Amino acid sequence: MFAEKILMAFPLAYKPEFIVDCWRHEICDDFEEKPSSKERALPGCCFDLLRVVSHQAWLSPCTLVVAVAVASAFLTVPAMGSEKVELSLEASTAGAQIDRNIFGQFVEHLGHGVYGGIWVGPDSTIPNARGIRNDVVAALKAIKVPNVRWPGGCFADEYHWRNGIGQQRAVTLNPNWGGVIEPNTFGTHEFMDFIEQVGAEAYVSVNVGSGTPREAAEWMEYMTTVQPTTLEKERAANGHPAPYKVGYLGIGNESWDCGGNMTPDYYLSQLKIYSRFVRNFNPTQQDKQQMLKIAVGPGGGEPRWTEWTQTIMKAWQQHTWSWDMNGLSMHSYTVGKWPPAFTSVGFGEKEYAEILKSTLEMDELIAKHSAIMDEYDPQKKVALAVDEWGAWYVPLPNTNPGFLVQQNSLRDAILAALNLNIFARHADRVRMANIAQMVNVLQAMIITDKEKMVLTPTYYVFKMYVPFQGATFLPVAFKAGTYRHDDVTLPRVDAIAAKDTNGKLWLEITNLDPGQAVEVEATLTGFQAKSATAETLTAPKVDSVNTFEAPDIVVPKSVSAKIEGGKLTLHLDPKSITVISVQ
Ligand code: AHR
Repeated sequence: MFAEKILMAFPLAYKPEFIVDCWRHEICDDFEEKPSSKERALPGCCFDLLRVVSHQAWLSPCTLVVAVAVASAFLTVPAMGSEKVELSLEASTAGAQIDRNIFGQFVEHLGHGVYGGIWVGPDSTIPNARGIRNDVVAALKAIKVPNVRWPGGCFADEYHWRNGIGQQRAVTLNPNWGGVIEPNTFGTHEFMDFIEQVGAEAYVSVNVGSGTPREAAEWMEYMTTVQPTTLEKERAANGHPAPYKVGYLGIGNESWDCGGNMTPDYYLSQLKIYSRFVRNFNPTQQDKQQMLKIAVGPGGGEPRWTEWTQTIMKAWQQHTWSWDMNGLSMHSYTVGKWPPAFTSVGFGEKEYAEILKSTLEMDELIAKHSAIMDEYDPQKKVALAVDEWGAWYVPLPNTNPGFLVQQNSLRDAILAALNLNIFARHADRVRMANIAQMVNVLQAMIITDKEKMVLTPTYYVFKMYVPFQGATFLPVAFKAGTYRHDDVTLPRVDAIAAKDTNGKLWLEITNLDPGQAVEVEATLTGFQAKSATAETLTAPKVDSVNTFEAPDIVVPKSVSAKIEGGKLTLHLDPKSITVISVQ
């Protein structure tokens, strides 16, 4: 994809009140005056997540102090290889808020991600509301999708919004994804209708690669103004007199690659222009609900990506009133190796262990780019938005390779849990994430085939994690133990904890080991625990999947969890994800 830029000045008056200098979040209100919630909670001491893993230690020097203390408390822990795991949770020690936007979704015009997966058209025999599948909407409502990123992806940098409005839609091509016909029947109004039905916010990516600032600015005016402009009248004539809300604006996509193969400096010049001129006019979004702008960020850990993050963040640190950004995007897929060679079904323990090892690299990647961001933004005003993540396997046989069709197994559920836990641990910086992709593409929540629909193991992880949306992160200390397969060594367990707004405690514990159950004993302090309930997601095999014929192979089941003397005990099946609620 080659960028062809025609920069057109768009003389709109400077409106200082449109500029928001912080990610939209409760703590933004007092960000300037107060230290971060993490610092507030533990003045003068260290907060870091304490995760002592025998083969690998992700420890700051500060954490090491706590590590030694906790390690001595765990002298009774049986030798490595045992199935007993002790955890300790201090409920009065709060960390950052886990932004519900980390449970965001991504929908691209790619394969059957939109057409067939979401959009069937009003005349379809598949039950729908104004062309949008009822079954898919109902399933998504149940996982409380906070935001949906659209229309791409690489597609976004070739998308021209005017093709997708009005009675007569231009029929175009989708050269990125299989070269198929793009009917444009799903455009702005249909997307906005869809997210409204789901109850999510819009995260719209504008075309920087082959569009113009004027085209993007006019799109935003079309969507958001209440003034009687020609574009406002056109929107009303197309059926929506009220302005739309656009929560998040993506300024380009992977501009270092499919979005125009730009250098960091070239992209930076585009970012400044788009940030300046692509305005949201919705009167309800001029204050707290301001649209947040997300710049293209890194796509890996190599030097070219660190240079990218440095360039954008350094410029942001010195930015003037005329441009701003609130988030920096990061894309990281679990591929194993490129091009994708791992299969999504019919694999064994070797591939299970290798993919999980690869996915755990997300932690280091976030830490690396967060550290660069900290240099220029110690107050963490700019969020890191991991707005494309998930497993990317070799396409299923007999499918269009450009449609990125893959199955979704128990391994993907575990992969999802591990990533969500990583995001939660980095909650002070990672305030958005969008799994790729929502329906029928890559690590999907939902798979459809005409009138049939099945919910994937990954879907159930998102469902089990709903209580973590907006909850406050709590540090949990544990000795993870080790799970080994051939030359791959992984932590046996992973865990996070949080307190929700009703004061309930939530714990998630993943047992990565496919061959060994784990007995958990968790010491809960700072909380009067009376009872606990738990749900587990597991299946007979690491590559077990849900199919249209057998949709309940990988579904959550209630399991027993006991509270006695302030201690929580429970049994974790091998290769399982368990969410425990303590009250
Ligand atoms: O999700 C598929 C593609 O992966 C997206 O279009 C692109 O942004 C990324 O490379």
